[in-house]
Amino acid sequence: MKIISDTNASPTQQLHSAITGFFITQIIGTVARLGIADLLAGGARDSDSLAAELGVHPGALFRLMRGGVTAGILEAVSERTYCLTPMGEGLRSNVPGSLREVAILLTDKSHWLPWGLLSEAVRTGRSPVQAALGSDIWGHFARNPEEGEHFAQAMGNVSGLVASELTHHIDFAPFARVADIGGSHGELLAQVLRAHPSCRGILFDLPQVAEGAKTVLESRGLASRVDVVAGSFFDPGIPSAEAYLLKHILHDWDDEASTTLLRQLHASAPSGARLFVLELVIPDNRNPDSSHLIDLNMLVLADGRERTEDEFRALLSATSWKVERIIPTRSGASIIEAVKA
Ligand SMILES: C[S@@+](CC[C@H](N)C(=O)[O-])C[C@H]1O[C@@H](n2cnc3c(N)ncnc32)[C@H](O)[C@@H]1O
Repeated sequence: MKIISDTNASPTQQLHSAITGFFITQIIGTVARLGIADLLAGGARDSDSLAAELGVHPGALFRLMRGGVTAGILEAVSERTYCLTPMGEGLRSNVPGSLREVAILLTDKSHWLPWGLLSEAVRTGRSPVQAALGSDIWGHFARNPEEGEHFAQAMGNVSGLVASELTHHIDFAPFARVADIGGSHGELLAQVLRAHPSCRGILFDLPQVAEGAKTVLESRGLASRVDVVAGSFFDPGIPSAEAYLLKHILHDWDDEASTTLLRQLHASAPSGARLFVLELVIPDNRNPDSSHLIDLNMLVLADGRERTEDEFRALLSATSWKVERIIPTRSGASIIEAVKA
């Protein structure tokens, strides 16, 4: 098998590589999950000593690491001895730009099982998540807190760059209260508050997630500046704030649910409140784009969707939010700034 980056590969070989892409996903997920990248942080190790430390099967670990070379995350420095490649470094925990939790999340049942039913999603136009997990994804996380924790941490992994772009483009100083709606464990809010010491924060999420946020915000020394509020954004009672953050929320929901959410937010917002929606915006052309893949992820997991600029404008204006500007950022996500009309 040739890997897909081999430009000399024939179309059949490229297709074969693409078809077996899930092998690579699982190899990377397993190296992340077992903590192998962290154990290689100090340099190359032989697979037998790693197997003894991890308590796993030595022969199978050797085969995994050999596969990790083909996946591009490991390099063989001698017989059965491996180190991380620059790409593999990103599987370490707590390094800038780490994607460790993302690799684990995407190979958790929450993602792996519904993706196995993609053809069902295409047949019906609905997420197969009930058939795959027995409930919606949020119920699955509530029943499987370890996976819920992976999800919250993976969201934190990808929040870093978005947060620095957000604080670069938007001055939050004029807002007394900034509320992150569906803010998970508060990584984004923490960065906004750090950049703007005069603001207070409100973190709003489902009860089981809000609990986890308290711990994270305490460890960041921000507990006294943030009110953590548990609830559902489909119900009345979203806290009042001068500025709202809605990052990677609307893409989880279809237009009907998004409309309910935006109306509830509108009802809770004081006059002149600003809404900052952070989402991928599907480009207005027919070129290949990663947003098309994330869009399928949303269909599979949650009946959600990625949207074009026109679709965001339509959704927001229908719920009385007036879009003032859309700022593309280097993170891939755009900042859609709207004001309560
Ligand atoms: C895709 S995550 C985005 C998290 C965070 N905004 C970020 O970008 O890192 C969606 C979030 O919405 C929360 N959520 C789902 N349903 C909710 C509801 N009905 N009310 C409030 N939060 C909800 C989830 O717990 C999760 O934290």
